[in-house]
Amino acid sequence: MKLAAIIPAAGSGERLGHALPKALVQVGQHCILYHAVAGAISHVDQVIVAAPSGSEHIFEHSIKEFVPAVKVVTGGEIRSASVASALKHIDKEITHVLVHDAARAFTPASVYLEVIHALSQGKDAVIPALPMVDTIKRVKDQLVLSTEERAALVRVQTPQGFKRDLLERAHEKSSSDPNADDAFLVEQLGERVHVVMGHEDAFKITVPNDLVLANLVVNRGRS
Ligand code: C5P
Repeated sequence: MKLAAIIPAAGSGERLGHALPKALVQVGQHCILYHAVAGAISHVDQVIVAAPSGSEHIFEHSIKEFVPAVKVVTGGEIRSASVASALKHIDKEITHVLVHDAARAFTPASVYLEVIHALSQGKDAVIPALPMVDTIKRVKDQLVLSTEERAALVRVQTPQGFKRDLLERAHEKSSSDPNADDAFLVEQLGERVHVVMGHEDAFKITVPNDLVLANLVVNRGRS
């Protein structure tokens, strides 16, 4: 098995309240992208980062200690377009691909290892997830329509692992849904997606409170 990691990092810092692209926001000594690449690099044979158009050089500079081992390519308007763009740059010998949000910068090694183990056992699509802690309700016009069965729901994280040809096939029919993850594209093909254990430290840095938690994790050290 030869593994590549695609790190979509082309999102904006808007919800985080930053003018900078989110991946360049500093946590401790380094930016979010640096932490994400540092967590991924020892698990794979190749790393490709999708950067916002026009920011490729700043991104390369922010992870310069990992370049040229890490390739920075131009991302797209939505996440799935960024992943599709990075997929075109994967080396010929790569057999499996992990897609990992830069924003989940502190994902512990245990999550990578769970996903990679499942791939090595012959699973073609693998996602890490955690149980729901909140009650989930479907609402419309500020009225509750229904209450979902919490035990049947999970919170999905990354890295999501795929057999390379399956991920390439899934991205041939790209989605216009900005929230679609790679597993969703695979589900659309009617293929099985396996679930392994995620970790609370694989949280996605999205809103300002997440930066408080991210700084705590940096001070404590990666799990
Ligand atoms: O916006 P959100 O945090 O959900 O995005 C998840 C990941 O996808 C982030 O790491 C973000 O940088 C990346 N992304 C991307 N291209 C986009 C939008 C988001 O690579 N156009």
